[in-house]
This record gives sequence, C-alpha cells and structure tokens, in this order.
Amino acid sequence: MRVCVIGTGYVGLVTGVCLSYAGHEVICVDNNAEKVKLMQNGQPPIYEPQLSELMQASTEAGRLEFTTDLAKGVDHGEILFIAVGTPALPTGESDTRYVEAVAKGIGNHLNGGYKVIVNKSTVPIGSGDWVRMIVLDGVAERQKELVTSGGGGVSQLEGMKAQFDVVSNPEFLREGSAVYDTFNPDRIVLGGNSDKALEMMQELYSPIVNRQFAEDQSLPPVDLVVTDLSSAEMIKYAANAFLATKISFINEVANICDRVGADVTQVAKGIGLDSRIGHKFLQAGIGWGGSCFPKDVSALVHTADDYNYEAQLLKSAVSVNKRQRLLIVEKLQKELKILKGKVIGLLGLTFKPNTDDMRDAPALNIIQELSRLGAKVKAYDPIISQSGIRDGLSDVIVETDAERLADHCDALVLVTDWQQFLSLDYEKMAGLMNSRVMIDGRNFLDRDALQSIGFRYVGMGR
Ligand code: UDX
Repeated sequence: MRVCVIGTGYVGLVTGVCLSYAGHEVICVDNNAEKVKLMQNGQPPIYEPQLSELMQASTEAGRLEFTTDLAKGVDHGEILFIAVGTPALPTGESDTRYVEAVAKGIGNHLNGGYKVIVNKSTVPIGSGDWVRMIVLDGVAERQKELVTSGGGGVSQLEGMKAQFDVVSNPEFLREGSAVYDTFNPDRIVLGGNSDKALEMMQELYSPIVNRQFAEDQSLPPVDLVVTDLSSAEMIKYAANAFLATKISFINEVANICDRVGADVTQVAKGIGLDSRIGHKFLQAGIGWGGSCFPKDVSALVHTADDYNYEAQLLKSAVSVNKRQRLLIVEKLQKELKILKGKVIGLLGLTFKPNTDDMRDAPALNIIQELSRLGAKVKAYDPIISQSGIRDGLSDVIVETDAERLADHCDALVLVTDWQQFLSLDYEKMAGLMNSRVMIDGRNFLDRDALQSIGFRYVGMGR
C-alpha cells in the first residue's frame, strides 16, 4: 500500500521504516530540512537498535523516501499517518499545535482520492473528531484559494469532504526496542467509525498481524482491538498510566521496605508470581521518565480535570515519582553528610538504557539538586558520553569512561541500568575513589560483589 508518515520522531520514523520494510511504499515527511537530509543520506537522527539497517534495506529496495514536501507525501499516500509530537505544556495539557498544523496541511493538499488519516501521535481524547474538523478547515482554505484564482468550485470541496476518514492507531513501542516492538506487538489498536478505513488499516498491518517479521513466526496472529475513536485514544493513556502507576506502587513499597528492613526485590518476586499481578514493571528504582509516561499521565490528569473529575490515584503516582528521583540525594546525604564540595559520579544519564533520549530523565533532577547543594557532579553514559548531546547537562562534567568517572569521587550513583555497567572493573574504580560509596538507583548491581571489594552499597528498598 502507499503510505505517507508525517513527522519523523521516534514514532513516525520507526513506523515508516518498519512499514516499508514490511513491503509498503512509504514517504516520510518532516519539516526539518536538516533532519531530512540526514535521513536521505541513510542516517537515522535517533539511536534505535536495527533502525539504520532496516532503513538502508528499504531505501535500497526503493520503498522508502524522505522529503520536506508535504504535498508530495499527501499525494502519494492512501494512508496518511500523523506522527508529530504532542509535548506537555507547563500546565500538563498536551500541546497539539503540531498535530493541528499537519491536519491543516493535509487538508490543503488533499487531491481527490480517498485517504485514511491516522492519528499515531498520542493525542487528547476526542482528537479524532477535532482532526477531521481541522482537515476540513484546510480543505476550505484551499477551496477559497481555488475560487479566488478561478480554478475550481464548491462541488470540489463537497467531494473532498467525503473522501477521507480519521482512524486512531496508538503505538505502544518502547524506546530502545522500538523496531522489535513494532514487529512483535502484544496487540494492534484501531479506532474509527468507517468500515472502509478500518479494513484498509487491517490490510496495512496484515504482514505484522501474521507475524511475517516476528521473532517467533509460529505464534498465533496478533490481536486486533477495533474500537470507536475515543476508546482507542483512551487505551493509549490508560496503558501508560497503568504502567507508570505500577512502578510508583513498587517504589512506594520499596520506601516502606527501607524503613521496615525488608527487601523490595524479593517482595516484587513474591507478588509478581501472582498471575493477576505479573512480574513486569515491578523494578523499584529512581522512578519513571522519558517522553511518554510523564507527559501522558499528566495529560490524562488534565483531561479528567477538564471533565470536573479529580484523578487522585494518578496524581499520587506522579507525586511519588517526583519524590523518588530526589531520594538519591537523601541517600547520599545520609552516607556523606554534607554534600557541598563532594564529588558525585553518575553511572548513566538517559532515562533508561539503549537510548540516547534525555527527555524527562531522572538524572536531570538529580544533577540539579546536587549542584544546588554545592556538590561537583560528573557522569559517564555509554551513549551520551560519545554523542554531542549536552542539552540540560551544563552542570555536569561528562566523562568518556567509567574509570575517569570514578577518579576522586566521594560516591557513585547508578542512574541508568545499562548492561555494560554489570561488567565494569569496580575494583579498579574503587581504588581511584575518595570513598567507596555506591548508591544503586536501580537495584541493578551485584551487591555482594561490591561489598566484598569494600563498597558501602545502598540500594532502593533493600
Ligand atoms: C513507554 C511504554 O512502555 C510504551 O508502551 C509507550 O508507547 C511509550 O512509553 P518508554 O518510555 O520507551 O515506553 O519506556 P519504558 O521501557 O516503558 O520505561 C519507562 C520508564 O519506567 C523508564 O524510566 C524506566 O527506567 C522506568 N521503569 C520501567 C522502572 O522504573 N521500573 C520498571 O519496572 C520498568
């Protein structure tokens, strides 16, 4: 099928690349010319396992193209994905101005053929109908132009109105395994009220539903959940809010464990074996971050507020998460007493491993608070250290390896659970430190091994 993906962030680029790899003809549109140039030269602007290889294969096969030309993309696609960002405003509301601009642009360029317009971005509940209106505004704008220039009539506008439908198709991909998640989804959610549009979407996803590119191709087809527009939009928010709450829950349990002398890792195992609970997303630590959980939970709280409902549980999940990030500082204070003048080394900066994404990373709050208290903060991150990314990192010295990091440190803090951190030479690092304190913010390291080389090990709830 012919597909156009507008917006080449995490969601858009991964969707475009994977759908082209699955056999569709895809044009990805982005208004950032520099980014488009990079992608035209075969370079993904984000780090994501497998993405670059698949991008290259699809481009070579002639099924994947990048452009800044929205008209070209709209003309090409039978299915048009809106995959631009919906960042949180300071109030917690979603900033939908990029979605609005794209929907208007699509309306401006609709060319008569039937199109399915897909909301792939996480948009506020009710956006499906709103997008439809904005597209129609765009069509009307164009119509006005045509009338002024004497190039068309009202009948053309009427024709265009009937020739598109809006579908909500939220994504559930995780950064760091976005390509894997696209080809091995737990479910595909499609919301809409047009049978024709929903059928086209099912055809689009059939290679994925039939597990043609899945790790285990013998599994039964992927579950398709077909709903109305608002329910599909709500599924995305509810899924992220549930997962975020589950983490805040175990973090709260961890904080109680710390006080009563229990070990949260054992508690998580004990409760996770209950099949109603499950063991995933029960890793206590410094809390959730990234581009999705914080923004989506706040947006859902805000939507509830708009409808005069106070989402108390979700608000608590957010406040537990805020407090959790700063527990690291409290733990450091307990070990080192005064932090002023102390050298603190952070192992990891990103909000989770296998990504270069620093959006809403707990490390940023930790750095800010430590700097405020007069500590000198250094950090080593397997990806950030090698990249040129330094946004928000002006208060931290980014070291190029773990040993340089350890040099003269009064304490180390494990912030991100990068696999590489399991095999560092901690004995050598300990020898370079002023004092051997390790705050394991993810309960990730080998406590016994660290203690045996003289570290004072402090975990989260154990
Ligand atoms: C998340 C959702 O998982 C995905 O379905 C959605 O589409 C986008 O948001 P992502 O932000 O990539 O994906 O990260 P995820 O792996 O879910 O982790 C989110 C945060 O929770 C990270 O900061 C991670 O460190 C933290 N986390 C996760 C925990 O603290 N404990 C856990 O047990 C799991």
